[in-house]
Amino acid sequence: MGKKVLVIGASGQIGSELVLTLRSRIGNMNVIASDLKPLPSGSNLNEGPFEVLDVLDNQALLNVVNKYNVTEVYLLAALLSATAEENPMFAWKLNMEGLFNVLNLAKDKIIQKIFWPSSIAVFGPTSPKNNTPQHTIMEPTTVYGISKLVGERWCEYYYNKYNVDVRSIRYPGLISYGSLPGGGTTDYAVDVFHKAKANEKFTCFLSKDTTLPMMYMDDAIRATIDLMNAESSSLSVRSSYNIAALSFSPEQIYNEIHHILPSFEIEYKPDFRQAIADSWPSSIDDEIARKDWGWCADYNLKELCETMIKNI
Ligand code: NAD
Ligand code: SER
Repeated sequence: MGKKVLVIGASGQIGSELVLTLRSRIGNMNVIASDLKPLPSGSNLNEGPFEVLDVLDNQALLNVVNKYNVTEVYLLAALLSATAEENPMFAWKLNMEGLFNVLNLAKDKIIQKIFWPSSIAVFGPTSPKNNTPQHTIMEPTTVYGISKLVGERWCEYYYNKYNVDVRSIRYPGLISYGSLPGGGTTDYAVDVFHKAKANEKFTCFLSKDTTLPMMYMDDAIRATIDLMNAESSSLSVRSSYNIAALSFSPEQIYNEIHHILPSFEIEYKPDFRQAIADSWPSSIDDEIARKDWGWCADYNLKELCETMIKNI
């Protein structure tokens, strides 16, 4: 039986790009997209199967997996950092129960492999701020970071205890033009391009010198698929891999955009998301991902800005 992939949370920032790339690699019919709401007509996810699915509905999840003989699940449904702070108990429920529902499908040998994303939010104020290592102090202060760190621990536990083939990446802030981000602290770095292209002044919710790890979406999608295709025996990390591409502050991205669009203006009005950003690393050490499965980022800040401005 061939590979059949289910992407849960397919309409989001990552899912909408991941589904298209997976379909181009293994065929439209072998990638089942799913999300809470039906697709709008004309969506480019309509080229292959789509299911309305709530990952918290275990029976509905099992029905979809059985209907398509799903072998691999990419679980992208979650509340992100800023939204999670506004609804901590629901964030905990969605981020944890969704993961358990999928992990248990693999434990019961109904599916063979899982991708589940973690985040740089697993680190906290007591972690080293620069070149944050794979293994270090991890005391996250956000509900999102806590849910991701606990999720990592459970992934490693399911691998060790039940031989579940679960793979994970600690994504930095992801920048893309295809769809809007879904409630994260790094969202400003997408919003800024939309305002610049609309010729509107941008109000940034982080201070001008808040440096965070970031990555262009194409790099993140390639990392995800490369990790899923890597030989199991080469993977030394079954919690979640650090990966890095670039780090920048709002002021640095503004300067880069300003070179291309000289009339663009920005002002800084930090809100509650500043405290979240302040608790995260400025840059990440991804040496182990490089060594284990050959990870290496492509896009630098200049290429990222040019691509975003050209395509929005
Ligand atoms: P997003 O908010 O853009 O998309 C999430 C999708 O999940 C949405 O389409 C939403 O409708 C769907 N969803 C929500 N609840 C659901 C449920 N109960 N059942 C099924 N679907 C549901 O998020 P994203 O940016 O695409 O992030 C995907 C994953 O990657 C998340 O786990 C997130 O924590 C992680 N991540 C993202 C980033 C980033 O910068 N985008 C960085 C680090 C980690
Ligand atoms: N981009 C994500 C967020 O800001 C990081 O996990 O929530």
